[in-house]
Parts: sequence; structure tokens; C-alpha cells
Amino acid sequence: MLSERLSLALSGGDLTLPATGRIAVFAPRAGADLSMLPQDRVQIITAFRPDHDAFATAGYACARQPEGAFTAALVCLPRAKAQGRALLAQACAAVTPGALVIVDGQKTDGIESMLRDLRGQGVQPAVLSKAHGKILWFAAQSMPADWHPRGPQPMADGFVTAEGVFSADGIDPASRLLADSLPEKLGTHVVDLGAGWGYLAARILARDNVRSLDLVEADHSALECARRNVTDPRAQFHWADATTWRPATAVDAVVMNPPFHSGRAADPDLGRAFIAAAATMLTPQGRLWMVANRHLPYEATLAQHFAEVVELAGDNRFKILAAARPLSKSRARR
Ligand SMILES: C[S@@+](CC[C@H](N)C(=O)[O-])C[C@H]1O[C@@H](n2cnc3c(N)ncnc32)[C@H](O)[C@@H]1O
Repeated sequence: MLSERLSLALSGGDLTLPATGRIAVFAPRAGADLSMLPQDRVQIITAFRPDHDAFATAGYACARQPEGAFTAALVCLPRAKAQGRALLAQACAAVTPGALVIVDGQKTDGIESMLRDLRGQGVQPAVLSKAHGKILWFAAQSMPADWHPRGPQPMADGFVTAEGVFSADGIDPASRLLADSLPEKLGTHVVDLGAGWGYLAARILARDNVRSLDLVEADHSALECARRNVTDPRAQFHWADATTWRPATAVDAVVMNPPFHSGRAADPDLGRAFIAAAATMLTPQGRLWMVANRHLPYEATLAQHFAEVVELAGDNRFKILAAARPLSKSRARR
């Protein structure tokens, strides 16, 4: 874990933080313990709304992009390699020349491959291994141009996506199955929860009878892609946590392919929280349409929040679930 490695590196005396100046911490996950850093000098930099909100609530200064000068940076390595490189390039560019850059990650998140990549760039970082991961530190140097964030890029099918966003290489087959299974009439006000780069939203807006669509997405990079993929004026974009966001008025339909991972671990609780949130958003006649991996046990949660639940379609990998008549106790939470 980050906190164990960082504490050990700092207490062992090998890693020394600069005595003054701001410290940029890139992409820490909610719950990460940063108490060994001086909080009043830390700026959290994250594009993921639930992480942003958790650190802001804990009193940290938070931003989506580094702002101002820093005398040190800590990068918490994400799973996607291109995204990790982009964060590292950003960190090296954000600190004063030659300042301290620290990278922490689990083996499963690719810290060893990052170490090899850094060595390939002529960087010889100090390395401490512990708790199935490594912490590396070195003096900042500029990273190759192709490591820097590239922002939204075109891919096949005419959409744009960016490094690290869900299904960046193409249309997700589960989302395609859901889009193919949706009825022609969804209602006039629809919400796409966890909208990603906007595939489902684009398919929903192919219906003339939809007057307004809210795209709710936690990953700011994905939402930026969605803004380019969905230029229809009926769309509104919300950088928000779907489990806490609420529409101004109750809606006719919620459509979603909910996330089922927190970091590397499968986490059906996230999908369950999406279902509970969807139930609060709907009118009494409103409906939820969702896709899930066949093995994920969402039916019991659906039954807790809706009077009617049916499996509409599916195959051996995915199931399309439709739920109607949200229970008043769930709607009352609005
Ligand atoms: C399985 S993907 C589906 C993406 C998109 N609807 C599609 O069909 O391609 C789930 C999406 O939920 C987003 N997400 C994860 N946690 C979230 C949260 N708490 N609030 C909002 N979006 C979240 C992820 O970033 C991801 O884009």
C-alpha cells in the first residue's frame, strides 16, 4: 500500500521531502492515507469525481490539472499504462526543474514496467519494494513527447476516446447489446449514468422523442470525449458521482452500463449503488434499463428498489435487465 511504502521511505531517511513549497499528488484513490505529507502543502490532482470529493471533504486542496508551481510531486500509478505515463510526464512538467518526483504503485498496476520504462529514459530512480509494490523517486526530467496526455483521439467508428477511459479502444460489446435492446420510446427525459465517452448517449439521442438527456460521468477525461462525440443540444454533461447526483426533476428513464470494478477488484457494490441512485431519480412510471455481466448478482438489489424486474435479453456473457415501478421508499430519498 502507498502509505506503508511512503512511510518507510520517509522514515528510513532515504526519501526527503523539500522543506518548503507545494506538493502535487496525482490520482490518489479515495481512502489513500496521505497523512505523512504536510496537508497544507498538498494539492490533489484527479479527474475522477468521487476521489476529488473524498479528498476535498477531508480538507485537501483539489484540482483537475496542476495549478502553479510545485517543489515535489507524487504519482499514484493507475492501471492503464498510457495514463500512467501521461501522469508522470505531467508531474515532471509541473515541478521546478530537477525537483523530486515520486511514483508509487502495486505490481498489479504495472510499477515494474514503469521502472523499466524510466530506466529506458536514462532515469535511475531510488527504489523501495514493499507490500506487493514499489515506490520510486528521482529528480524530474522532461519525458518523451509521446508520454504526455494526448487528450481525445479519433478511433474506429468515428468516435473519439482518450487514454485510461473505459473501453478506449472501441465500443463496449455490453453497451452495444444494451443499445440494441432499448425500446424506441424511452420517454422524454433520460439519464445515462456512468456515460463514459458517450456511446450509449449517442444511441439514445437517435430517438426524436427524447427531449433531454443527462450524461453523468465521474471520469473527466471520458466526459470531455463525450462532449465531442455527442454534440446534440439535447445533451447535458455532468462531471459527477452517479451515486450522489440527482436530476432537478424526476425522469422517465435511466439507462446504464454500471462500473463493476474499483481499481482492480470486482466490486458489485458500485453497481448496486447505481441501481439505488437510479430508483431515486425516476417518476413513478419511470424505468431503468441496464446491462450487466451475467455473473453479477444485481437482481436482489433491483427487487429492493423496483416492483417489477425482467431480464429482457442477453447471451452467455451479458444480461439486459429492465426495472419498472420504483418503490416509493426508494423514490423518497430524492
Ligand atoms: C462500464 S463503463 C460504461 C461507459 C459507457 N456508458 C459506455 O457504454 O461505454 C462505466 C462508466 O462509469 C464511470 N463511473 C465509475 N464510477 C462512477 C461514479 N461513481 N459516478 C459516475 N460514473 C462512474 C466510469 O468512469 C465508466 O465510464
